[in-house]
Amino acid sequence: MHASATASLVLRSDQTGPVINRNIYGHFAEHLGRCVYGGIWVGPDSPIPNTRGLRNDVVAALKALHLPVLRWPGGCFADEYHWKDGIGPRANRPAMINTHWGNVVENNNFGTHEFMDLCELLGTEPYICGNVGSGTVQEMMEWVEYLTSDASSPMANLRRAHGRDEPWRVKYFGVGNESWGCGGNMRPEYYADEYRRYATFTKNYPGNQLYRIACGANGEDYNWTEVLMQRAGPRMDGLSLHFYTLPTGVWQQKGSATGFPESEWFSTLRTTLHMEELLARHTAIMDRYDPEKRIGLIVDEWGTWYDPTPGTNPGFLEQQNSLRDALVAALNFHIFHRYADRIHMTNIAQTVNVLQAMILTDGAQMVLTPSYHVFELFKVHQDAVSLPVELSTPYYSLGDGKIPEVSASASRNSAGRVHLSLVNTNPHESVTVTCTLAGHQATTVTGRVITAATMDAHNTFAAPTAVQPANFTAARLEGDQLAITLPAMSVVMLEL
Ligand code: AHR
Repeated sequence: MHASATASLVLRSDQTGPVINRNIYGHFAEHLGRCVYGGIWVGPDSPIPNTRGLRNDVVAALKALHLPVLRWPGGCFADEYHWKDGIGPRANRPAMINTHWGNVVENNNFGTHEFMDLCELLGTEPYICGNVGSGTVQEMMEWVEYLTSDASSPMANLRRAHGRDEPWRVKYFGVGNESWGCGGNMRPEYYADEYRRYATFTKNYPGNQLYRIACGANGEDYNWTEVLMQRAGPRMDGLSLHFYTLPTGVWQQKGSATGFPESEWFSTLRTTLHMEELLARHTAIMDRYDPEKRIGLIVDEWGTWYDPTPGTNPGFLEQQNSLRDALVAALNFHIFHRYADRIHMTNIAQTVNVLQAMILTDGAQMVLTPSYHVFELFKVHQDAVSLPVELSTPYYSLGDGKIPEVSASASRNSAGRVHLSLVNTNPHESVTVTCTLAGHQATTVTGRVITAATMDAHNTFAAPTAVQPANFTAARLEGDQLAITLPAMSVVMLEL
């Protein structure tokens, strides 16, 4: 490794950008493979230590992330989920086939009460996705009543009969998922009308105000955003967007989670940076219909999607998580911060054991992934005011492609502390960043770094701390100048 590159940066503490909504650090847990069952829910009779069936180790690890919001029950599963099958005594709950994810039998042991219990344990806001694809308007209407009404009404009384007197507070409610695909293969014009009809019957019961989220585009489907904004914009609070990062860009052979060549390190990071163009173009459409930026863009599924771990059920979407995923997470957060005036929420797919997971479990064992450590490091940005950074960076080139070597983002929290996060995408060389602090008199700088010796370094049950944050000492402060040496392939968080 050699330090040959230099970048320069002006951190503009004398200016302020929009607040970074803490929900940008949101999560997603679907009834898919071992995310909910085994990963979060083990049942009250399990030998794995649990609180009312929710595993204690996972709950504690997630609490440390300050999880702001959790999306559930899907994903594709949401459009075949019938919520009434998931309430009442567990022994009496009917089973169903989870047709999207491995055709396994879903016993409905984890339902509305269990999910809301999880949210209360975590101190997180629920984001519930309703069933448009195979559910009725009445079913969706009654779910909202069951959750949030305090009246002496049929659904509120059913909730009471099942042990919950007080209504819950539910703000975020999704009206269908991927209605252009697994949620019903609809055209945007048709879905826009369906959205209007279903959303009409999701009521605000006294004391509860819903934030209604319409199903949004798949990646570059700008026409979907256009049609939805035109036909249903005034009736929605949020419009979603889904974008996954595949190393090869080919669904049939996505690329391996570990043991990949440098070309796939590069292509993964280049693909994930495409999020910037997606946000620029979708928000430009939204700006035309909603210049006041009332409607949030909700990136409620994002992250890496690799070939499944060999030997696992391919329908369970299990994959390892390496240093590369840590960089993907950090790069996306920096992009989301830049669009914080429009991005109200994002939800990484998914929290446990599925896709770009925070946590992997096997029976009673649990391990935290490099992505987890980025979410933990970056939680200081939650609800902080973003600060502009003017960055001049060299490029990391491979073949005839190149991507910026350095990515940076800064914010100031309510205590006046400034945080500067940085990424070096180059797997071979460190880079020195000379930083001018405009409008901020820093007296100390401390930091933490996530890096490793190999591109695919990852944590296993046998070696759970192979990738974890370490103290970072390569930042020197002199007056308003900060000199930072970023190691190759690293994520750094500095506090000033
Ligand atoms: O996150 C996995 C799946 O990806 C979700 O169920 C679906 O919405 C998307 O296609």
